Amino acid sequence: MKRIRISELLESKEFGKEVTIMGWVKTIRRSKNVSFIALNDGSCLKNMQIVADAEKIPADVTERIHTGAALKVVGELVESQGKGQINEIQAGNIDVLGEADPDHFPIQPKRHSLEFLRENAHLRFRTNLFGAITRVRHHMIFAIHKFFNDRGFYNIHSPIVTGSDAEGAGEMFQVTTLDLQNPPKTEDGEIDFSKDFFGKATNLTVSGQLEAELAALAMSQVYTFGPTFRAENSNTSRHLAEFWMIEPEVAFADIVDNMDLAEDMLKYLVQYALDNCKEDLEFLQQRLANEDKQKPENERSMPLIEKLNFVLENNFERITYTDAINILKNSKPNKKKKFNYVIEEWGADIQSEHERYLVEKHFKKPVIITDYPKNIKAFYMKQNDDDKTVAAMDVLFPQIGEIIGGSQREENYDKLMKRIKEMNIPEETMWWFLDTRKYGTVPHAGFGLGFERLMLFVTGMTNIRDVIPFPRFPKSAEF
Ligand code: 4AD
Ligand code: MG
Repeated sequence: MKRIRISELLESKEFGKEVTIMGWVKTIRRSKNVSFIALNDGSCLKNMQIVADAEKIPADVTERIHTGAALKVVGELVESQGKGQINEIQAGNIDVLGEADPDHFPIQPKRHSLEFLRENAHLRFRTNLFGAITRVRHHMIFAIHKFFNDRGFYNIHSPIVTGSDAEGAGEMFQVTTLDLQNPPKTEDGEIDFSKDFFGKATNLTVSGQLEAELAALAMSQVYTFGPTFRAENSNTSRHLAEFWMIEPEVAFADIVDNMDLAEDMLKYLVQYALDNCKEDLEFLQQRLANEDKQKPENERSMPLIEKLNFVLENNFERITYTDAINILKNSKPNKKKKFNYVIEEWGADIQSEHERYLVEKHFKKPVIITDYPKNIKAFYMKQNDDDKTVAAMDVLFPQIGEIIGGSQREENYDKLMKRIKEMNIPEETMWWFLDTRKYGTVPHAGFGLGFERLMLFVTGMTNIRDVIPFPRFPKSAEF
């Protein structure tokens, strides 16, 4: 079935040419002698207009055409009389490949709430909004691989089923082949995981970092880009139980190199979106502008494309955690609005609303916070000489808060071992990781970019469940 994608046809002036297109009906306008059908095949935001003259397309065919139906259209490309389109197709033949009953098809040509579309996630690709988000997501995936490939990084597939808890936060999904209704037990009455397929308890990975470190300490610069899983029971607009993470890891690099790479990468990706997703970003921007019209003027957000350019024009502010806490302590809580916060004390983690305060109100640009207290960060981070902080870095973005978390890694065997003991990490589970610090250890650094947080920023969407095709969150996994 030879077909031309609508995106390839929209600009064509080859009037008189016979073409075949296939897609799904967005709308149909009927009159006695002619029907106008807007057809979309996902290749672009725009629809192709099909003109179905009653003389050529019998009524028993057009009667079966409703929003959501799939069609094969063979016809002649003709100049369009309509505004905003170069051409249209004068249908010679229409096959209704799949009907959609208008009394039951839930996606009608009107504005649906995001909540309604989440409940109809199996069909939401059919909307203009999710078409746009899906295309932007694809371009961002491609741009990430291109960014690293152009810089000589190798892509590493890290395992999804693993025995390690890379972040030490204990937020893991267990994976087992045992029958947990009736599990084999040890003499102490515990579940006997030695009888499991892997011979031990395993879980879905929370991060590919530790494996990326193994590779970086041979290949010099690598990155992983895979699904990661967190069994945290958080029902927020920024957390998913299954999300995709990009984790570069670079040997012979320190925290400053790491910050430079993070800033370069984020700017590259934003620029790539502006260059390659113009039509979809304009659509997303218009959608936000329509929503903003309902709000008072001072609560309206910056137009999407302006916001993306704003990131490109500014160097990210780089400050230490200690400086950040001092700024927060010295700023007056704004009782009226969003940033009505409790003043932080040194040692506490920085809440996301405080991160946003620093970015949106104080510095008015992206911020990188470094040198966090060691007690709120993972065991593998390089310990600073003050014995209190580690060479960590979080990149904070407007609207999002933390978009990247990373660090220079502790490359010294003794110091790493001491930290593992202090944090009660069973050291026998870490022998493979520790070996890299025994043999040819070097300074190295890396970070993790949450892909869906990037997508939130680029699309201007506000709920993370709307920027991944099949969001996994508490009680969500129907399909
Ligand atoms: O800060 P995190 O937990 O860091 C790591 O996993 C490191 N191993 C990364 C590294 O150094 N290689 O997660 C990194 C990023 C966060 O900044 C955030 O953007 C995203 O992953 N993230 C989530 N995104 C969606 N849902 C969740 N539950 C997320 N948890 C983290
Ligand atoms: Mg983090």
